[in-house]
Amino acid sequence: MKRSLVVGLVVVGLLSTFSGLVLYAQDTGREQVVNGLFATLPDVPPIPEDNPMTPEKIELGKMLFFEPRLSASGIISCHTCHNLSLGGTDRLPSSLGHDFQTGGRNAPTVLNAAFFNLQFWDGRATGLEEQAQGPIQAGVEMAMPADLAVERIASIEGYLPFFQAAFPDEENPITFLNIAKAIATFERTLITPDDALDRYLRGDESALSADAKRGMEIVVQVGCVACHNGPMLSTGTLMPFNHGTDLGLATVTGEAADERLFRVSTWRNVSLTAPYFHDGSAATLEDAVRTMAVVQLNRTLTDEEVFYILAFLESLVGDAPEITIPELPVN
Ligand code: HEC
Ligand code: HEC
Repeated sequence: MKRSLVVGLVVVGLLSTFSGLVLYAQDTGREQVVNGLFATLPDVPPIPEDNPMTPEKIELGKMLFFEPRLSASGIISCHTCHNLSLGGTDRLPSSLGHDFQTGGRNAPTVLNAAFFNLQFWDGRATGLEEQAQGPIQAGVEMAMPADLAVERIASIEGYLPFFQAAFPDEENPITFLNIAKAIATFERTLITPDDALDRYLRGDESALSADAKRGMEIVVQVGCVACHNGPMLSTGTLMPFNHGTDLGLATVTGEAADERLFRVSTWRNVSLTAPYFHDGSAATLEDAVRTMAVVQLNRTLTDEEVFYILAFLESLVGDAPEITIPELPVN
């Protein structure tokens, strides 16, 4: 009796030392958070050297982002699927493109995409310039071959002065690469700084509610932050995600080693962008959180844990950029 009491006490002692460490990590939440787990969203995303940002290029890029004549049908623009009134998405499980075809993947938000190096769910493109060339040509999206896209835009005379202003050193500025460069430049303005977490990290203790702070502790404690960390609350790298039938990067490379590799999603604005996952299979954020815990961490979250995690995730909605709808040249 006595002996088991002693053993019990030792065990309790060990446990409380351990949980003491965990609690310590939680109590010093902000320090630990600042020391690398989370970080504020920078005011400006990385800008490639060969595509400097200018107001003229941003303006042209915005026009092209809203330009349906970049599609074969003449009715689909980037904005059709990345609707800035809907958090930069279409809120569909998987997007409908040319001829109402679907590519089977959900449209990720364009908000803050500029902070990702690897683009698309499977990270198959690097950088926004490369990314933007994909959907214009993709049969299931805008279905417009590159040369036809250039021809179509060049045939609209009103565009020339905008390309000349955006690419002043070039004799023939209306090229497919420049279309992509301008769109990418506009996308670098689609960032949402200064959410509640950012304000909290800058020292405003009251920016996060008590529930959100508890949620922040839980995502650290249960291990979500192994993949969801840094300014984007995503490592930006590819990780295995064994869920659904899509083979991820292997769809493109055919390599067994790439099977089911998907880029870690950002948590910024995540409460605005239902449904979730590459196949849109999680209808609500709650579904997505519960599934993630099971698939990635082999853990069933309690209702309470889910409640607090949702409060944290909901605090990650930043200031949306103010967008005025551009007037496009008629001809
Ligand atoms: C028919 C709907 C549709 C259209 C039109 C469309 N997209 Fe997308 N977009 C998607 C889908 C779906 C994905 C994800 C595809 C994948 O990962 O395989 C995507 C991915 C992206 C991404 C990657 C974001 C990230 O986090 O990796 C960016 C950026 C993007 N699109 C920008 C654009 C631009 C710019 C245009 C116009 C030139 C455009 N899209 C047109 C549906 C669309
Ligand atoms: C091993 C890495 C890893 C861990 C750990 C992890 N995630 Fe993820 N998370 C991912 C990947 C990869 C995706 C993209 C999934 C896809 O392609 O559909 C993702 C996507 C998500 C999404 C969907 C975002 C969207 O826009 O569709 C949510 C929400 C999410 N994770 C929350 C969590 C939570 C909460 C935890 C902890 C309980 C967690 N994740 C743990 C890697 C991880």
